[in-house]
Amino acid sequence: MQGSANLNIMIKAARKAARSLVKDFREVENLQVSAKGPGDFVSKADIAAEAILKEELLGARPNYGWMGEESDEIVGEDPTRRWIVDPLDGTTNFLHGMPHWAISIALEHKGEVVAGVVYDPAKDEMFYAEKGQGAWLNDSQRLRVAARRNMAEAVFATGVPFGAKNTLPAMLRDLSRLMPQCAGVRRWGAASLDLAYVAAGRFDGYWERELQPWDLAAGLIIAREAGALVEAFRGGPEIFDSGSVLCANEALFPGLAKILREA
Ligand code: IPD
Ligand code: CA
Ligand code: CA
Repeated sequence: MQGSANLNIMIKAARKAARSLVKDFREVENLQVSAKGPGDFVSKADIAAEAILKEELLGARPNYGWMGEESDEIVGEDPTRRWIVDPLDGTTNFLHGMPHWAISIALEHKGEVVAGVVYDPAKDEMFYAEKGQGAWLNDSQRLRVAARRNMAEAVFATGVPFGAKNTLPAMLRDLSRLMPQCAGVRRWGAASLDLAYVAAGRFDGYWERELQPWDLAAGLIIAREAGALVEAFRGGPEIFDSGSVLCANEALFPGLAKILREA
């Protein structure tokens, strides 16, 4: 797809931050066996990646606002546009040397996400979308949600938020209702990739609670542009405010929502 100038800026920034994170990821693999472990090292890697993204994105668009996981919010000279960034989504995987993590960058305009990039450097998979332009993987692969209509064949993703004190009972209820009716549930630990995988037809749907805008923003538009229905867990469009999401193709969404919303 021939992307806009903003999309090209986002892709370039993601690749640059990825180079730094990949170098650090190799080091993390060595640090597993050290007495102190890779904890501090990873938080430094995370902060360094956000600094690279900030430099690239605000460098190219200095009047936009900023919302990133690792730094303070900035209201831009143009208050209608802001970058929403998670420099490292899937931190626990990264920390444990597991190659399933991503850089997530979204552009919001007047409260609506209009472009999103989710880059998985370990697999060199660049997922991206712009409003009305479809969702894409790497140079030319158009993404569509899976065509599966049958709950019994569907595989869903979910996440249990860090700590999970408040949501664990609800999650266990969800699982006890959904798992007997579907083909499987995965918890892979990177919300942005869960959404991108729904877009790519790998997962048939996804739900999670207690998320932040930077976990969701880029993945949301990628999933929507690939044909997924995406709502807040309890219904409606207030995904960021509720911090929750429920997403699937049109055929499976009503069934998934019924099972989970009644749980
Ligand atoms: C986390 C991941 C995970 C989700 C957590 C998020 P982080 O983000 O997206 O899949 O279950 O709730 O906080 O901490 O790795 O950026
Ligand atoms: Ca995250
Ligand atoms: Ca993060």
